[in-house]
Amino acid sequence: MYIYDDYDQRIVDERVDQFRDQTRRYLAGEISEDEFLPLRLQNGLYIQRFAPMMRIAIPYGLLSTRQVRKLADISRRYDKGYVHFTTRQNVQLNWPSLEEVPDILAELATVQMHAIQTSGACIRNTTTDQFAGVAADEVVDPRPWCELIRQWSTFHPEFAFLPRKFKIAVCGADEDRAATLVHDIGVHLRKDYQGKVRINILAGGGLGRTPVIGALIKEDLEPEQLLNYLDAALRIYNRYGRRDNKYKARIKILVKAMTPEVFAREVEDEWNRIKKISQPLGPGEIERIARNFTRPDYEALADLDFNDLALQGSPQFQRWLKQNVSAHQQAGYSAVTLTLKATADAPGDVSAEQLDEVADLADRFSFGELRVSHEQNLIFADVPQTKLPELWQALDRIGLATPNRGLLTDVICCPGGDYCALANARSIPLAEEIQRYFEDLDYLHDIGELDLNISGCMNACAHHHVGHIGILGVDRKGEEYYQIQIGGSATRETTLGKIIGPSFKREEVPDVIRQLISVYLEQRHDGERFIDTSLRLGLEPFKEKVYGQKAA
Ligand code: HEM
Ligand code: SF4
Repeated sequence: MYIYDDYDQRIVDERVDQFRDQTRRYLAGEISEDEFLPLRLQNGLYIQRFAPMMRIAIPYGLLSTRQVRKLADISRRYDKGYVHFTTRQNVQLNWPSLEEVPDILAELATVQMHAIQTSGACIRNTTTDQFAGVAADEVVDPRPWCELIRQWSTFHPEFAFLPRKFKIAVCGADEDRAATLVHDIGVHLRKDYQGKVRINILAGGGLGRTPVIGALIKEDLEPEQLLNYLDAALRIYNRYGRRDNKYKARIKILVKAMTPEVFAREVEDEWNRIKKISQPLGPGEIERIARNFTRPDYEALADLDFNDLALQGSPQFQRWLKQNVSAHQQAGYSAVTLTLKATADAPGDVSAEQLDEVADLADRFSFGELRVSHEQNLIFADVPQTKLPELWQALDRIGLATPNRGLLTDVICCPGGDYCALANARSIPLAEEIQRYFEDLDYLHDIGELDLNISGCMNACAHHHVGHIGILGVDRKGEEYYQIQIGGSATRETTLGKIIGPSFKREEVPDVIRQLISVYLEQRHDGERFIDTSLRLGLEPFKEKVYGQKAA
């Protein structure tokens, strides 16, 4: 965990007091709905279908067990006893009452949590790899860089009222687990042949109604210039981004309209101006931030033979070991994913009781820290391999050992029509129907890696464009329908899915997915994933299978 200083604590505490007064004035009728709107948005508060929705920041997905217990406590006292982990490493309360939000923020501040800049037209929570600092394929640990961006972007006076929201993701590993190419800005950390950190910057990616893959606008940036360069990119966006039309206001529209080349040139010119008057990052600054992260007190252990380990447990344990346990930089340790995707639980939801148990387990097995992934799962990043059988048993008891990480039932899903007033269709019940339909674990493991994303409308909160199978809720004459696309991905390669044809009723969807998968199973080459086969074959065989049969 990053250890915040007194200054961080003070600004969070001051913000609570400010928002308490703003809420009081709004409730007393002293400020209007319109005046209150930007104030509540800058504090994570949306008005949704039934109650306000409160989004709490989890900077780059890191949580301490103290914070987890606080979330459990808040959800019991102020909400309905559960929380929802989101697709951008944040956490949401779905049922707080507006009157109590200042009290909730005060509680959160006691564990250095807040809702600052989690909504509104500002720079949002920076996201990264859930395996940051432990991933076996990591080149540069992204966490100090994310913290640097957090410090720079929090209350940045120039960027408090951008044309629209702005999301930055950072990746420092071979595999992009932070979906950087579909963010407003993607930061790629790499090393040159001398081992020095160099940074590539991508801009103009995003999903929503106009999905776009980000363009490379800067290569080999010296790390000392990262903040100056980000200042320049944000200035160009702030200056030229459209404010007249909300649907055309994201940076992706500007980069497209200008062309990435012209946008990059504008940023370069601005950066050259900034460089003349603004200091680069001081020597040792990143090391200073890095030192403020607690480092687990690893024991000197040797890697275990997983084949031997698997033999010690049940078939369920073996599946979990294969699917949910990931390689680690430190010998004798592994990272473990707890998927929040048990059938019948809304994806990303965890009860207060589970949160308390998870906190106890993270204290016992993973140095009192956990992470949140944009796939809406939790991660114990530092588990000694010798403890894996014991951890599995404990997780199994509380329903958090579902061995489906990265499989079809590890559904990424937005709140949809159950909560969100903008939805065309409900997403959570569809996720559940799919999970029920595909309960056979042998079949699921045979299919292998398959990302399924469900968004209830074209705002794409669940990133359906980059699901290997993406589902979008659509409205057909007042009825809920679902459009299906295939071939999207945001990890090893970034591609946008293509729609297979006319949409379906909810009850038809699970069987359509089965048909899509049957084409894959019949035609896959050795070692090919669903996404590889679907990109190699194109849409036709899938369309033929689904619509050919429907017409018959
Ligand atoms: C009350 C209605 C809404 C609800 C309940 C909702 C819910 C969510 C959730 C849970 C996320 C993941 C958020 C995070 O952790 O930061 C998200 C992200 C997102 N939302 Fe919404 N949202 C709502 C309205 C909107 C609207 C009005 C738009 C656009 C006009 C929108 C567009 C998006 C996009 C594009 C993302 C993130 C995708 C990305 O990572 O780039 N949402 N929303
Ligand atoms: S995708 Fe649409 S329905 Fe789903 S949460 Fe976002 S705005 Fe709401």
